[in-house]
Amino acid sequence: MEVSFLFSLLLGFLAELSEAQYHYQGLMNYLESRMLAMEERIALWHEQNDRYNSDLKKFKQQASELLEKLSQEHSKLKLDLEGAGVKVDRVEREMDYIETKNPPKPCIKAADKMVEQEAVVEQKKKEQFFELSVCIDIVSNIRAMKILKRVGSPKGVWTKDSKTAKVYIFNGTSEDTLYEFNSVKDLSASAGVSKGKQITLPSAWTGTGHAVYDGFLYYTSERSELQVIKYDLKNGSIADSAVLPVEGQIPVYSLNPETLVDLIADEEGLWALYPAGDTINLAKMDAETLDIEQMWDTLCPRTNAEAAFIVCGTVYVVYNTRPSSRSRLQCVFDVNDMTTSGEAPLLYFPRRFGAHSSLKYNPVERQVYAWDDGYQILYRLALRKKLWAIAPPPEE
Ligand SMILES: *[C@@H]1O[C@H](CO)[C@@H](O)[C@H](O)[C@H]1NC(C)=O
Ligand SMILES: *[C@@H]1O[C@H](CO)[C@@H](O)[C@H](O)[C@H]1NC(C)=O
Repeated sequence: MEVSFLFSLLLGFLAELSEAQYHYQGLMNYLESRMLAMEERIALWHEQNDRYNSDLKKFKQQASELLEKLSQEHSKLKLDLEGAGVKVDRVEREMDYIETKNPPKPCIKAADKMVEQEAVVEQKKKEQFFELSVCIDIVSNIRAMKILKRVGSPKGVWTKDSKTAKVYIFNGTSEDTLYEFNSVKDLSASAGVSKGKQITLPSAWTGTGHAVYDGFLYYTSERSELQVIKYDLKNGSIADSAVLPVEGQIPVYSLNPETLVDLIADEEGLWALYPAGDTINLAKMDAETLDIEQMWDTLCPRTNAEAAFIVCGTVYVVYNTRPSSRSRLQCVFDVNDMTTSGEAPLLYFPRRFGAHSSLKYNPVERQVYAWDDGYQILYRLALRKKLWAIAPPPEE
C-alpha cells in the first residue's frame, strides 16, 4: 500500500516533471530561435557597418583626391589668370601707345583745308571724328622726376624725336649748332656733349621753341621776319619755310623772353603757341606744307608763363614767379572743348631751385624733357581718362 502510493506519487511527479520539462524545452526553443534571429540581425548589421565603413573610406579618399585635383586646377587657373592679366596690361599699353600715336585732331573745317576732292574731304572728316573720340587722356599728376645731367648754359632745349628715338641738345637761346645722340643712355654716358653728332644749321634758332619729329627739326629763326623753318636732319637741308603772322617782338611766355613762338610737332602735325595781346594763342599747322589750318585763343595769360606742352590735343601752360619758386601747371585749353574747366587739377612740379626754359612732352614715353638752369630733367606724367569718357556730359 505504501509502496503503491509512493509509486503513484513518483509517477505523478515524473509526469509533472516531464510536463515541466516539455514546457521548459518549448521556452528554450523559443529563446533559441529569438537568439538566432538576433544573431542574424547582428551579423547583417555588422556587414552593413563594414560596408558603410569601406564606403566612407572610399568616399574620403575620393574627396581628398578631388580636393587635391581642385587645388591643382585652382593654382593653374590662378597662373592662367595672371597670364591673362599680363596680356591685358600689354594690350592696354599697346592701346595707350596707339592712342598717343593718334591724338585727337582739332575740328578743322574741311573747306578751309583747300582739299580739292570731295571724297578725300569726307574721308578726312570721318577720321577726325573717329580720332576725336579716341584720345581721352588728361594729365592727372606729375609722378616722378629724374635729373639726368647738366650740360651747357642755363637756358636751352633737350628733346627726343618720338618717332626715331634720337635725342637732341640745343644749348642756349640763339645758336646754330645742335647735338644728336642715339639714345638718352648715350647722352648720359657722354662727357658733356662730346659723343654727340654735331649738326650746324643754315641759320641760328631763336628762343627755346624748337621741335623735332620724324627726322625733321622745326625752329624759328629771326631774319627780317619771324620764320618757321623745317629742316631735314637726315640730309641737312631746308625742307620748307613759312613766315608767321606774329606782330612785334613780344614773347609767348613772359618768363622766357627769348622765346617768341613755341613749336610742338607730333603725329597730328605742327602746333604753334604764339603771343596775341595778353594771352597765348594756338595755331594748328600742316607739318608737310607749314600751312596754318586753324587758330584758337587759349585765354591763358602770358604773364608769369614759363613754358607749355600739349597732351592729347590739350594745352597745359606752366607758370612760375620771378625770382623762381615752384612751377605749376595752371592753365588748360582743350581744342576739342572736352575738358571742362576745373576738371584739370592745379599741379605743382617738384620743388627746384631753377626755372624751366623748355618743357618738351614725349607722347610715347609720357614724360616731359625739361631744361632747368642747365640741368636735363625728366618728369613722368600720370594720365587718366577725361571725366566725360566715364560719364558722358549732359546734352545741351
Ligand atoms: C653751352 O653754352 C654755354 C654758354 O653759351 C657755353 O659756355 C658752353 O660751353 C656750351 N656748352 C656746350 C656743350 O656747347
Ligand atoms: C633730302 O631728302 C629729301 C627726302 O628724302 C629730298 O626730297 C631732298 O631733295 C634731299 N635734299 C638734299 C639736299 O639732298
